[in-house]
Amino acid sequence: MPNCSKPVQIPSFDLTRQNAELKDELLEALASVIERGQFILGENVSAFEKEVARLCGVKFGIGVGNGSDALYLALLALGIGPGDEVITTPFTFFATAGSIARTGARPVFVDIDAATWNLDPALIEAKITPRTRAILPVHLYGCPAEMGAIVALAEKYNLKIIEDAAQAIGAAYKGKKVGSFGDAACLSFFPTKNLGAFGDAGMVVTDNPDLADKVRLLRVHGARPKYYHQLLGVNSRLDELQAAVLKLKLEHLSRWNERRRSIASLYSQLLKGLAEEGLLRLPSVPEGMEHIFHQYTIQAGERDKLQAWLKERGIGSTIYYPQPLHLQKVFASYGHKEGDFPVAERAAREVLSLPMFPELTDDEVKIVAEAIIEFFKR
Ligand SMILES: Cc1ncc(COP(=O)(O)O)c(C=O)c1O
Repeated sequence: MPNCSKPVQIPSFDLTRQNAELKDELLEALASVIERGQFILGENVSAFEKEVARLCGVKFGIGVGNGSDALYLALLALGIGPGDEVITTPFTFFATAGSIARTGARPVFVDIDAATWNLDPALIEAKITPRTRAILPVHLYGCPAEMGAIVALAEKYNLKIIEDAAQAIGAAYKGKKVGSFGDAACLSFFPTKNLGAFGDAGMVVTDNPDLADKVRLLRVHGARPKYYHQLLGVNSRLDELQAAVLKLKLEHLSRWNERRRSIASLYSQLLKGLAEEGLLRLPSVPEGMEHIFHQYTIQAGERDKLQAWLKERGIGSTIYYPQPLHLQKVFASYGHKEGDFPVAERAAREVLSLPMFPELTDDEVKIVAEAIIEFFKR
């Protein structure tokens, strides 16, 4: 057990260790952009777009300002708007449903699977109406959604798929990378993501050349040529400084994802006994899924007490997410109430994400696990 009179400091997430390791290369990459003087849509952006598309197993990448805009622009480019319905999960970051609503379409929520916290495909069909245009699955915490069943439903009902892969760059489902299942997929490079920029950044990836072209147009106010506006777009571009940082970090991504996986298996090994006693639930990785552990999330009835216990011992943890989207005030007009999506509601009360970043040491993982074990034995 750690000495509680002298608390250890294990944060939920810490970028300083990674930045220190890459400091010289990062400064060099930034300096070269500054020297060239091209800050918007330059050669780093184009090169990074190609590399990310390749990583996802598709042809095109379109760098945008952030992951939320990636979702919004992909939906717009697919022609989704007022009167349309898009099926998605209520247990995700706000931007997933917020982006649907920004287009004027309605997010239609479907409850999640208790084991993976991702969309439960068995519940989707009942929510399909003549207005349904698309399904928007989220690969939450880096675990792929059940894409086999989702693709089958989309084919059966002629629906589009937009993958929210904001938390899942590099994850795979049955050997195929996430981002390559949908008509489009959206990535976020928010600093805390597995591949994080030094600010906001995002990307749409797609295999469809017409869709790629439309997103390219929409990110520059729909102008082509400049100052001649074909579509009502927005100003949302990945900038050169961010692309230079991301391109450099991308070289390390598979190693970092691998390290996250080994941290996750160490956590699972250490906490297995508690899970067997039914005291908490560990993340499950269904057969055929390559999870990239953006988060290592557990579920426990006494979540809030456990979080306070860890905090007293200098251990950070985070709740992603405390309020499911159907109960958010901003969506009150959809008329949802408590009880509509019980699995998501229970997850919101019980999930807790433990410290997770590639530079976390095995010793730190052991300290966190020991503190959790101690909590349940108190
Ligand atoms: C699941 C999910 N969707 C969308 C987003 C939006 O990305 P961004 O913060 O880059 O706008 C995020 C990231 O925060 C996310 O986790």
